[in-house]
Amino acid sequence: MTDITQGGHGPGAHDENRRDFLVLAASALAVVGAAVTAWPFIDTLNPAADTIAAGAPIDIDLSPIKPGQQLLVSWRGRPIFIVHRTPEQLKMLQEKSDVSLLSDPDSEVNQQPPYATNWHRSIDPTYLVVVGTCTHLGCIPEYTPELGGFLGASWPGGYFCPCHGSKYDLAARVFTGVPAPYNLPVPPHHFPSKNTVRIGENPKDVAWEFASIVQI
Ligand code: FES
Repeated sequence: MTDITQGGHGPGAHDENRRDFLVLAASALAVVGAAVTAWPFIDTLNPAADTIAAGAPIDIDLSPIKPGQQLLVSWRGRPIFIVHRTPEQLKMLQEKSDVSLLSDPDSEVNQQPPYATNWHRSIDPTYLVVVGTCTHLGCIPEYTPELGGFLGASWPGGYFCPCHGSKYDLAARVFTGVPAPYNLPVPPHHFPSKNTVRIGENPKDVAWEFASIVQI
């Protein structure tokens, strides 16, 4: 199942900061299922569920993700966050006030492929694609995009892991002074079309192994 998170979660999740939690039939499995309903022969062209589970690439339609929203999908049994970042959020990622809070702002640790070793940690700055497991003990951090909010006036927006308080910005770069040691991992991915991201496959002519990542 795939869901779209429109706003923040966390300790204040029960108040007005918590937004509706939309559930859309947009996961790879659901897309395959829909295709089967409309055009049964397409089934033979799509990977079977067990193939997807074994690690086959999955294609995700980006068009339902509005600016500021996050889509959560599953790849190889791991949660994958896909965020449609706004121009304001991208600007914040380059502000000194954000960068000065980070442990590895330039992504020097191998937690991403070479094509995501940049300030936005992605191919297209608009879309963040990361594995959603905290590099401390593997909890799923909560999407907390609002500036300030329950995390205080200096909060630039990003992820909060309530397990032990680790924080990441909206490029999934970990803050200093928290238990998590590394930025969230970026999986192999590329964009075969304007509104599609393929997760589990590098861009053409790039050889990079997800298994080489320092910590998932
Ligand atoms: S698992 Fe995220 S802070 Fe401990």
